[in-house]
Amino acid sequence: MEFIKEELSNLKQKNLHRRLKTMNAAQSSRTMVNGKECILLSSNNYLGLTEHPELKAAAKEAVDFWGTGSGGSRLITGNMRLHEELEETIARFKGTEAAIVFNTGYMANMGAITALVGRGDIIFSDELNHASIIDGCRLSQAKTIIYPHKDTGVLEELLQQNSSSYRRIYIITDGVFSMDGDLAPLPRLVELAEKYNAWLMVDDAHATGVMGHRGSGTAEHFGLEGRIPIQIGTLSKAIGSAGGFVAGSYGLIDYLRNKARSFIYSTALPPSEIAVALAAFRVLRTNPQIRKSLHLNAHYLRSGLKEIGLTILTEESPVIPVLIGDASKAVQMAQQLLSLGVFAPGIRPPTVPAGMSRLRVAVMATHTRDDLDKALAAFAQAGQEMGVI
Ligand SMILES: Cc1ncc(COP(=O)(O)O)c(C=O)c1O
Repeated sequence: MEFIKEELSNLKQKNLHRRLKTMNAAQSSRTMVNGKECILLSSNNYLGLTEHPELKAAAKEAVDFWGTGSGGSRLITGNMRLHEELEETIARFKGTEAAIVFNTGYMANMGAITALVGRGDIIFSDELNHASIIDGCRLSQAKTIIYPHKDTGVLEELLQQNSSSYRRIYIITDGVFSMDGDLAPLPRLVELAEKYNAWLMVDDAHATGVMGHRGSGTAEHFGLEGRIPIQIGTLSKAIGSAGGFVAGSYGLIDYLRNKARSFIYSTALPPSEIAVALAAFRVLRTNPQIRKSLHLNAHYLRSGLKEIGLTILTEESPVIPVLIGDASKAVQMAQQLLSLGVFAPGIRPPTVPAGMSRLRVAVMATHTRDDLDKALAAFAQAGQEMGVI
């Protein structure tokens, strides 16, 4: 056990030791953290749907009718009619032939990559891709080449140099990058995938319900419907439930049902979560105003933060990375903000590169102008006190 002690003290010395914060209330725009009331400014509950009455009612009804658990994996006893209805709904939402639901977004990436990619294949993966993509690539045993973030020039050179000697070629990218909030250069990635006969896989965890005219993701945002063969998403962020999915052709989805180990060997999601996701897709269809409020709020907050003099790394989505740089300073700034009633946690290495520590600010559709003004006042005060403005 000595190595555990050593490693923990090592993390503490480097200011990289993580502690859990306790939420004492729901993921609302105003909540309780460590017993203190504050404005929540970093939730992935972008649309505020976890508090939506239709979603709550759907969960309760599902428990009454279907019970609390699914009782088995999808291929044994856990495949309820609800799961199938959700997959049909996701396929319609994404404009694909079919979809398959996994228990988490993490498991969707791991399951899809390890089922589709193996020895003899090559993956080109953006350097800022999410950990679940990185882990899927590692486990796949394929040759993996990490290309510089969004650099399609370098990617094309790598494709030219490497692709002829491999069985199948994959390009994998986040749609919206989770810690930077910027968008993948999908139009060019689609061209490259088509030119080099590569499979393009896009993880829209932070774009589902958020980007595009109907909120169906980055393919819709860029007008690339039908040109991205493997589309991943989560139900755990803007959709306000839990779970992940892959959307694509009938063949792809049937293949994953038979080959994706994280789908096959895990108990199906409970019916309440499935019913909540179904209700969320209904709300997205019937109330597009929620998504509009999200983007208006993001615009307002970004402008305010820049006016104060803070450095915003990107401006393309409701994820607003406020650059602090030094890891300990980012943590102190987050603590200072919390004491002023704003919860915007510091993100440090290894989640982001050294020197790029930041506050990951994420706005919600349900924040009021008053919430955002109060948050901006807290940022101005904390920023001056910390010397980052
Ligand atoms: C880009 C990305 N992909 C996948 C995941 C995993 O999704 P989930 O939290 O549903 O497991 C996350 C976040 O957690 C993410 O940010």
